[in-house]
Amino acid sequence: MVLKVLGIGSSPRKDGNSDILLQHFLETVASNVIDVEEIQLRDYQFQSCIGCERCRKDRQCTGLNDDMQYIYPKILEAGGLILVSPVHNYNITALMKAFIDRLYCFYEFHGERPGQWSSRLSGQGRKAIVAAIGEQFGVQEGMHLTLEAMRLPLAALGYEVIGTFPITGIYTKGMLAQHHSLLDISQVLAKLLSDSLKGNV
Ligand SMILES: Cc1cc2nc3c(=O)[nH]c(=O)nc-3n(C[C@H](O)[C@H](O)[C@H](O)COP(=O)(O)O)c2cc1C
Repeated sequence: MVLKVLGIGSSPRKDGNSDILLQHFLETVASNVIDVEEIQLRDYQFQSCIGCERCRKDRQCTGLNDDMQYIYPKILEAGGLILVSPVHNYNITALMKAFIDRLYCFYEFHGERPGQWSSRLSGQGRKAIVAAIGEQFGVQEGMHLTLEAMRLPLAALGYEVIGTFPITGIYTKGMLAQHHSLLDISQVLAKLLSDSLKGNV
């Protein structure tokens, strides 16, 4: 694992609000002298998990040979992760859900089923931020499950989620670029992630 932040965007809309937010996050992290890499899931061809459970024995995803195989080494390598999703029907996008489900191969299951489990990503000081952007005002009314749908799986995988960032009231393509106070908050969170990865907080 290295001092690096991987940013995962999950909007199907190129140059939309999620792209702008992720780029701001990563620019701030890079300005704190940490390597960054941006992945837009829409650029990768991959399926959602087929539930074959081969990963329990093989300790990696051997059931599907698609572009997730390019992403897995990047996840293992980077100590930091930023997930950004637009709100689609009170939840993360289908792309983000498929991505998160494909992280199932990082779990270890011990003994009888159902029983004990652990994550191969845990205990390594991994840190994350999750952020969501929706049109409707009100985190409960409009966004609802979106942030938790990213935070809970990352915590289970062993990430310390140091920040969750809900953005509401943003809809037309690219309008987030005009909302400087929201982008300023993203910079504060990205600085916090950078400092915590460096062990400064
Ligand atoms: C299929 C679809 C479903 C949506 N569902 C919601 C929703 O449930 N709540 C909400 O606040 N916004 C919803 N929106 C609006 C988007 O979250 C919003 O326009 C966001 O800014 C899009 O981000 P993007 O430009 O990164 O794609 C939906 C948009 C689409 C296309």
